[in-house]
Amino acid sequence: MNRLFLYIAFGFLFLTFADMGISRRETPLLGLTLAMAGEGAKSIQTTNTEPCKPTPPDALGPFYTPNAPERTSVGKGHILSGVVRTSVDCSPIAGARIECWLTGPDGKYDDDHRATMFADKEGAYKFESNFPPPYSGRPSHIHMKITAKGFRTLVTQYYPDMGKTEGEFDLVLIPVD
Ligand SMILES: [Fe+2]
Repeated sequence: MNRLFLYIAFGFLFLTFADMGISRRETPLLGLTLAMAGEGAKSIQTTNTEPCKPTPPDALGPFYTPNAPERTSVGKGHILSGVVRTSVDCSPIAGARIECWLTGPDGKYDDDHRATMFADKEGAYKFESNFPPPYSGRPSHIHMKITAKGFRTLVTQYYPDMGKTEGEFDLVLIPVD
């Protein structure tokens, strides 16, 4: 069986699980499956013409609520920054809307740990929060939803390494057809 077929099959599995709302790090078995899918995606990426690899989508999860207050800080302990870019040529997307939500220090979701912010004219953003504790067997993570006119909405998650006080995460969006 040729490798391309395997990659496509694993890619299909990935999309199926994403539709089911299962996070890519939800279970070790799923993680293994998706790691293989990721390997396939990586291989396919090298053959396409996109210079800027789109940020992989991740599960929205059950704790998203719209219209979070506009703010760039919901706590202390971790600073996440990055640039919102287009996959066409990596150029910044000024004014992109970024929503973040994470568990508070007690490991629970609440309205005090949700925020809406906007990328500046260089596409840059900075978000300060507590370090999100792991919960229900999941690694620490910050949920993110990014919307910008002319681009597909991106829902993803950022996974900080344990003990890190800073992190960088560029958000690469795909233009609408
Ligand atoms: Fe979560």
